[in-house]
Amino acid sequence: MRYTALSAAVFVLACAPAAPPAPEIVHRDGRHVLMVDGAPFVILGAQVNNSSNYEAALADVWPAVRFIGANTVQAPIAWEQIEPEEGAFDFSFVDALVAQARDNNVRLVLLWFGTWKNTAPKYAPAWVRLNTERFPRLIMANGEPSYALSPHSEETLAADARAFAALMAHIRRIDERRRTVIMVQPENEPGTYGSVRDYGPTAQALFEAAPPAALLARLGRQGESWSEAFGADADEFFHAWHIASFIGQVAAAGKAEYALPMYANAALRDPINPQHASSYASGGPTWNVIEIWQTAAPALDFLAPDIYERGSRVYEANLERYAREDNALFVAETGNDGPFARYAFSVYGRGGIGLSVFGVDYSGYSNFPLGARVTNEESLAPFRDVYALIAPWQRVWARAAFEGGAWGAAEGDDSAPQVLDLGDWTATVRFRLWQFGMHDWTWLGDIPPRERAYPDGGVMIARLGEDDYVLTGRFARVSFERKPNEDGLSGEILRVEQGHFDSDGEWVFERRWNGDQTDYGLNLNDRPVLLRVRLAAHAVAAPTLTVGDAHGQ
Ligand code: DGJ
Repeated sequence: MRYTALSAAVFVLACAPAAPPAPEIVHRDGRHVLMVDGAPFVILGAQVNNSSNYEAALADVWPAVRFIGANTVQAPIAWEQIEPEEGAFDFSFVDALVAQARDNNVRLVLLWFGTWKNTAPKYAPAWVRLNTERFPRLIMANGEPSYALSPHSEETLAADARAFAALMAHIRRIDERRRTVIMVQPENEPGTYGSVRDYGPTAQALFEAAPPAALLARLGRQGESWSEAFGADADEFFHAWHIASFIGQVAAAGKAEYALPMYANAALRDPINPQHASSYASGGPTWNVIEIWQTAAPALDFLAPDIYERGSRVYEANLERYAREDNALFVAETGNDGPFARYAFSVYGRGGIGLSVFGVDYSGYSNFPLGARVTNEESLAPFRDVYALIAPWQRVWARAAFEGGAWGAAEGDDSAPQVLDLGDWTATVRFRLWQFGMHDWTWLGDIPPRERAYPDGGVMIARLGEDDYVLTGRFARVSFERKPNEDGLSGEILRVEQGHFDSDGEWVFERRWNGDQTDYGLNLNDRPVLLRVRLAAHAVAAPTLTVGDAHGQ
């Protein structure tokens, strides 16, 4: 056989390791998992600041990312950056970013800043922004043009989708065999401030016509016009439909080149006291229009909240709104100030596929009051401490969560105990306790266990098998109680082991906890411990020394 360049190429390809499977979101029984390299994966994320998407800025990114121990970095790719002149693409930043991410052993989620970035087209190239004839602005109810581009323009959609598809084709070329890039967010916080919808002639004609049949069927409505079908919600629903279908088409054009998981992120609507659409980014994937987005944009895998509200009631309510049987929970952005770190326990405990802290770089920029006043090691330490608890066994956790065996509790602003329903057992998580006994038993009175600036406790529990759990956390006490049931059995902790998982996900024993370390509950403090707890049911009517109930000193 003659040795040719072709046979050499065939030989090289045959010897090259097979490409890992493409990342994907898998759904089962109302639960969701992100598969990376063919196995469940949890994103411990860090998002860089908006203008850190140039090679010169990356040097300030990696030290912060390494410091918090993120396994995934979200970085913007701006339309103006890759297509400064129409049709002339420059992917040099993408190449540098992917290469440096690999050097730093992290995955990437790319954020496409195109027609919408915080609702505005500021990251669109000048040839788009300045040509308002070809790329029209949305028309407000008073007839004036808005700052935002109209979602009803075929030209804008075609230009955005072409650029995004070119980006995805490039990522496929450079990364298909490595899968460093695991997800993509087409656009950023879409919607419009200051106008609930577009009132221009094209939009108005569509608004007066019948809504799409698929939407009417999904929402169980009827009507020959949007107003007839949706009454007071018509303007917002109309805008949501058209923005979602625009972004859905951009996502589909990208997926046709390279089918990575894709999602849209939301500037939020109050999850408890609903406001009118005129007071938030109307048309974005807020909780009240999730079904509309799902129907209009099937190419998107899920919708994700950006949460900058520090209070636990609102934070948890936002998680509740987006953790759904038909929507994977991913907190696409959250503040980088200490009080936000505890919510990781709740996000992962709800089976979330990930969380990403916004503004993780040492560029000197800080988005206080959304995040910390100054971004430095001191402000990022709470995130480092939480990620360190999860990172070494995130794949074990992700698998357990997908199987329905994951729970979490983040300390609320009131530090009240929280009870987790594990099936046959409950776990009670308490905060602000001493590690020994109960502080209200003693002559010392109600002395807090330690000074701290804000609530920072939390716990994560995964089920490995029957009566077999793994838990970790910070500044919390966990006790297990067997639920009353017909068998009349009680129960107790049989064994508590401290240990870790090896790289194959096998448990490695380090020591047993007993005596003071278990008599009053399992106390998690500032040490990063992983505990494996074997529980046992038995016929003793009342627990003898059930954790958390012992009163001996
Ligand atoms: C949410 C946006 O998605 C981010 O890009 C950023 O602008 C933050 N708000 C504020 O820092």
